[in-house]
Amino acid sequence: MGSMEGLKAESNGGAQAMNGGGEMTTTRRGRSSASSALPLEVGTKVMCRWRDQKMHPVKVIERRKVPHGGAGDYEYYVHYTEFNRRLDEWVKLEQLDLDTMENDVDEKVDDKATSLKMTRHQKRKIDETHVEPGHEELDAASLREHEEFTKVKNIAKIELGRYEIDTWYFSPFPSEYNDTPKLFFCEFCLSFMKRKEQLQRHMKKCDLKHPPGDEIYRSGTLSMFEVDGKKNKVYGQNLCYLAKLFLDHKTLYYDVDLFLFYVLCECDDRGCHIVGYFSKEKHSEESYNLACILTLPPYQRKGYGKFLISFSYELSKKEGKVGTPERPLSDLGLLSYRGYWTRVLLEILKKHKGNISIKELSDMTAIKTDDILSTLQALDLIQYRKGQHVICADPKVLDRHLKAAGRGGLEVDVSKLIWTPYKDQEDEELRRDQRKCHACRSSARRNQQQ
Ligand code: ACO
Ligand code: ZN
Repeated sequence: MGSMEGLKAESNGGAQAMNGGGEMTTTRRGRSSASSALPLEVGTKVMCRWRDQKMHPVKVIERRKVPHGGAGDYEYYVHYTEFNRRLDEWVKLEQLDLDTMENDVDEKVDDKATSLKMTRHQKRKIDETHVEPGHEELDAASLREHEEFTKVKNIAKIELGRYEIDTWYFSPFPSEYNDTPKLFFCEFCLSFMKRKEQLQRHMKKCDLKHPPGDEIYRSGTLSMFEVDGKKNKVYGQNLCYLAKLFLDHKTLYYDVDLFLFYVLCECDDRGCHIVGYFSKEKHSEESYNLACILTLPPYQRKGYGKFLISFSYELSKKEGKVGTPERPLSDLGLLSYRGYWTRVLLEILKKHKGNISIKELSDMTAIKTDDILSTLQALDLIQYRKGQHVICADPKVLDRHLKAAGRGGLEVDVSKLIWTPYKDQEDEELRRDQRKCHACRSSARRNQQQ
């Protein structure tokens, strides 16, 4: 429960996650020997004062000279080993307790390509196989360098509509935008600029007041737009650059042609303001009905994520297919999905008093059977007896789980959805041509998960 509380406390803009670990065996050293180790080496582990004013273990990811500081003045980019990477940040030396310093020599000899715990053999395997599209020409060492590079956030803040938002992760903007303290986005066409004046000039010219593409849903002030990545390539790419600032493991910015983007907006008399989106492959062999999902930080924890998830399943129902989100799921993605699956499945179990099969549940909800099984297993509601799955449907138990699954979120009013499934012959051909690229994208992702 502790980590959930942490998550709640830190919701908008900087949620804390449950990525375990964080244990540190500290080697105590005298103050003088500690300060003689300055500037600290990358890889050093030390305790650091966080925004809650408590000390937490960190690992130094990068260091840089303090602008206008003395010759030996450095600041450090640190990863809090107990928290998700989105909380990585630059800290001042004063925040670090040098007495707790630990230099992990073994890890430094090893590569730092990922922060996951792996055997040398696994690492070698990744060196050989982990080749990202567009990086085919890179050898393992250059790729490692690239991965090192993406460990540090390049854009600290963005301005989007009436919000200024702290970013969470690295995003591969064209190099001229790197290390810009703040990027200014047009909230309608998602063009981005380095200076406020450029944005102001742009807003006078930009004639969009909503995402390009078709409005396929409107209910009250909420609208959903379907944007075809092939017809609106620049918009699709801009959206991916923006989204990557809040998504850790996703890389899809180079093949937007193959995707549809479902953009959720809150509309008023000034226009339709982007709240979040999900992307969906036009054709998925793995029955993915959602590739990436994002609610922009100022709108998080208000039920929009559940709305987007629910919407993705409504589209699957219209297609007459079951669907599942693309893996890996982030910590927040998993929480949101688990909540959605629990609520939808347990409501049905309650109604049918348990007299329903997994297959029937899947047909009714478009949720893939694997996800149904994993949800019911996690809640300890299913047993495998005599070659059959037996579902527990004790109303008291179901109610307890439903209560714990949180609020229902914003409902999708299916009667307001005007949509037909995507079909395009030309795209089928394109997909066949690009299969190689698609395959290596998947394998790059799989390797990231290991
Ligand atoms: N702390 C604790 N629980 C949380 C948090 C948080 N910060 N955020 C979401 N949850 C859980 C809660 O159970 C919540 O329900 P509740 O508010 O009733 O308790 C539930 O998830 C969903 O809440 P919503 O308000 O409907 O979701 P939100 O609009 O915040 O969007 C999302 C969820 C899309 C995952 C958002 O957190 C986000 O954009 N995160 C960054 C990007 C990301 O990680 N996307 C998923 C990647 S996986 C993939 O793309 C396939
Ligand atoms: Zn614009």
